[in-house]
Order: sequence, then C-alpha cells, then structure tokens
Amino acid sequence: MMLLSRLILFAVLGDVYGGWYNSTFVAIGDHPYVVAVEDDVKNVICTGTILSDRSVLITGNCAKRIMRNHFEVSIRAGSSYTGKEGTEHHVHNRIVTYREDNFRHNIVVLCTDPIMNLDGKTRKAIPMVTNDKNFCGCRAKVIGWRRGTIGSSAKLASVNVKIINEKRCKGNFPHFVNSEEICVKNLKEGEPLEESYDGAPLVAEGKLFGIVNQHSSFGDENIDSYYRIAHFSDWISQALEECHGSGPYYSSKIEDFPYVVAIQDRDDSVLCTGTILSVQSILVTGYCAHLIIRKRYHVKIRAGSTYTGNGGSKHTTDRILTYKKEGYDHNIGIVCLNRQLDLDGITRRSISLINQNERVLSGYNATVVGWGDSDYGFPNRIRAFDVKILPQQFCKTSYVDFTDSQEICAQNLDENGQAACEGDNGAPVVAADGRLYGIINHYSRICSGVYPDIVYNVAYFSNWIRSTLDSCDVPCRQSVSSRNSKLEQFCFEP
Ligand SMILES: *[C@@H]1O[C@H](CO)[C@@H](O)[C@H](O)[C@H]1NC(C)=O
Ligand SMILES: *[C@@H]1O[C@H](CO)[C@@H](O)[C@H](O)[C@H]1NC(C)=O
Repeated sequence: MMLLSRLILFAVLGDVYGGWYNSTFVAIGDHPYVVAVEDDVKNVICTGTILSDRSVLITGNCAKRIMRNHFEVSIRAGSSYTGKEGTEHHVHNRIVTYREDNFRHNIVVLCTDPIMNLDGKTRKAIPMVTNDKNFCGCRAKVIGWRRGTIGSSAKLASVNVKIINEKRCKGNFPHFVNSEEICVKNLKEGEPLEESYDGAPLVAEGKLFGIVNQHSSFGDENIDSYYRIAHFSDWISQALEECHGSGPYYSSKIEDFPYVVAIQDRDDSVLCTGTILSVQSILVTGYCAHLIIRKRYHVKIRAGSTYTGNGGSKHTTDRILTYKKEGYDHNIGIVCLNRQLDLDGITRRSISLINQNERVLSGYNATVVGWGDSDYGFPNRIRAFDVKILPQQFCKTSYVDFTDSQEICAQNLDENGQAACEGDNGAPVVAADGRLYGIINHYSRICSGVYPDIVYNVAYFSNWIRSTLDSCDVPCRQSVSSRNSKLEQFCFEP
C-alpha cells in the first residue's frame, strides 16, 4: 500500500519535473557537441552528438522514431534549449545505419543539411575513442535533454558518472555484450534517465566513449550499460564518408527536362519535385502532397526555370488529390494549380505516361531529374543522373518496406554513383523514349549510389492518374470521390 502510493506520487511528479536522476543544468558552451532531435512541433525526441559539420550520431531507436515521424524532424545545434535558439538542420532521407534492416539495436549516423557551422563555441565535433580495451575507471559525464513541464522546452543537463569494469555489468545484466557495451556507474543517487536522453553522449577526457541507449536506466547499484563507441568507431568513420561522399551527376537545364517543376518553401528551398501532367496538374508523391497540405500558403510551384532561386513562372495550389491508401507511405498525388501553365513546349510541357500494367524490365535505362540534395548541398541548378532498372529482388533485400506491385527499383551503377536525395522526392524517372516510368519515392534513405532508389511504378497508377486529371477542372467543394473510390481530395480554405 505504502509502496503503491509512493509510485503514484513519483509518476505525477515525474511528469511535472521531468525525471528523477540527479542532473545539473549546463550551457551548450560547456558541451557544444550535443544536439537535440526534435519532432515537427519542436518537442525533443532524443539526443545526438556532432561528429562532423554534416553528421550527427544517434541511436537506432531514435532513427526508428524519426522514420515514424516521416522524417519531419530537425536537428537543433548550438542551443542550450530545445525548441528555440541555435540552428535547425534537416535530416530527411539521409540516414546511415549500423546493420541494415534492423533499427532496433544499433547506432545511426544522420547526414544534416544545411551543414553546421562549427564555430567551436556552440557547435563542435567531438573526437571518438578508438580503443578503450582497458576501461579507464575515469569520471565521465552524460549530457542530454532534461524535459521541463509538458509543452515547455527541455534544457541541457549533465549527470556525473564513472566508467567502470565491464565485469560489474556482466553480473548485473544477463544480456550485456562485452564488446558492444560500456559499463557506467551513476555517482549520485538517481533514477532512470528520461527517454529524451536516448543517444546522449558519455564523455570523458574530452572524448566520446559511449552513447546512452533506450534501455538505459540505472538499476541495482546504480550501474548501467551504454553503446560502446570504441567498438563502432571504424564503422562510424566510414558512415561519415557517406555524408561527405562524392559522385558523378550532371548539371542540366530546364529545356532538356521541361516537364519537371520544383515545389518550394517560402525561402525557395526545394521541398520535393513534381512532373507536369497537364496545363493545371502536377504529379507528386503522397509524401509531397502531405508536405504541401501542411505548409499550404507558403508553398509555390516553380515551372520553366533551370534555377530554384529565379526565373520561370510561380504557381500556387488550393487543391490536392491523393491516391487513397492507408498512411502516406504508398501513394501518389496530383496538385491542381490555381493558374494554368503556359505550355510553350520549350521550358514547360506535359509528359506522357507509360500504360497501365506495361512492364518496366530490369536492364532498362532511365534518367532521374530534380533539384535534390547533392554532395555540395542543395544545387540551385537542376541536375540529372542516369539509372538502370534493377530486378525487384534488389530493392526487396535492401528495403523492408518495398512494395512489389507498386514500385520498381533503380540505381546509378557508376563508381561513386549518385542517388536520389532530399528534395528529389517525386523526381521523374524518365525512359529514353521520354515517357514517365515512375517517380522517386521518399524512402531511399541513403543518398548514395551504393543503394538502389525506390520508384513508384507509373504502370500501376496510370489509369488512376488519367481519370483523376480532369478533377482539377471542377470546383474544389464539389464531391469527386463518388466517381473514383480511390480518390481523396483536400481543399484549402480560401
Ligand atoms: C542530488 O545531488 C545533490 C547534490 O549533490 C544531493 O544533495 C541530493 O541528495 C541528490 N539527490 C538525489 C535524489 O540523489
Ligand atoms: C542502356 O544503355 C546502355 C549504354 O548506353 C546500352 O548499352 C544498353 O543497350 C541500354 N539498354 C537498353 C535496354 O536499352
């Protein structure tokens, strides 16, 4: 009875004060390598560590939550608080995981964009320990985000710990893996770490020794186990290269690909890529449609320009038509434009689709075109790269969420090959005869030609696309779904 009421009290206070461990608030200047991973309403999801100006280390569990949030998260660097100050960086589909296909028990490198300005004061990379065979027995700190009251921002806080002999953990934790985990003792009486500490760096002697994993909680004798950086350091170094990697693609001009349009945010950054279907309709992915709906009034569609920052014509939309399926994972959308496109045939024209159920075979050549992220940040000029259609099996083995019937698999096979990246979502994959094979799906994840890209197969959707196009003609309020059961429409308020 006594015990029960104490537990309830703890639970209530825990919500209000956010945590029980004995932590001390600190400033970002004391630990400038710590960043916050925040969801789309700026609540902290977990903690990350800066490894270089364009890469952050997190746990696999955190990566899983990022994917569950459809990558709509940002990395906040250079702030002592979550939700405010510092700079925000996207991650989108640039994620490099240790052990593919398993996001449960591993570590992950995120490639950030734009790159972080490592001023050494509020943003700094931390060196990793590469060999810790003889545990140091040294004092260390764990630095992460301590939540305040619900809705308020979390503050950076540190906990004093000591790195101790693994034998102590082995005794306490039956699942302790000697090589992959490091044993830590909490120096003050404390309680389990909050979930927002997932990924928090364990730092001693100015170096990264470990990161907190989701299961961390100081158990008996205040002992806990974290991921051990020395075990992963070689892999991490390679993963960093992915964020810095290079590969061939060609800068191009709109006249070569007049059917492609950039879907842009208020600041001209490219949210995703679209393809012209008719004078007033643009083909996009369901993910892109969702982004437009969320950002609505800020979004513009730029057609007829090689560049993202100027030229061409700008259009807005008040209506999105989507292919109805659960979630946003496996569908496409049509954006109806408020003002018609001037299809001059030179800088703007519509594309022809391949036919329903036409087979796009392994070995076929295609070109991907868009304004997506490249090795040098977002290009302001359109770029293209060639791909080969691969056997379905290649994507099936690389991606658990590949949908055989609706998607095809494509890859640039050049050495240091290019791949679709952030901003290329929806980018057209065009056959040598100029017809549309498909559009790049969101879940390519890794912006490197090492892995294939997943492409929505237009042959699966082309009847739906053709029959839905005309719906852009009728006023938005009018119901269209009775004519087409797979159609869902979204009208913006005037
Ligand atoms: C936290 O640390 C302070 C200062 O060392 C100490 O006085 C206090 O008892 C500790 N609180 C808990 C819950 O261990
Ligand atoms: C694809 O392109 C390569 C190189 O240009 C060519 O040799 C090959 O025949 C093409 N494949 C098809 C199916 O057209």
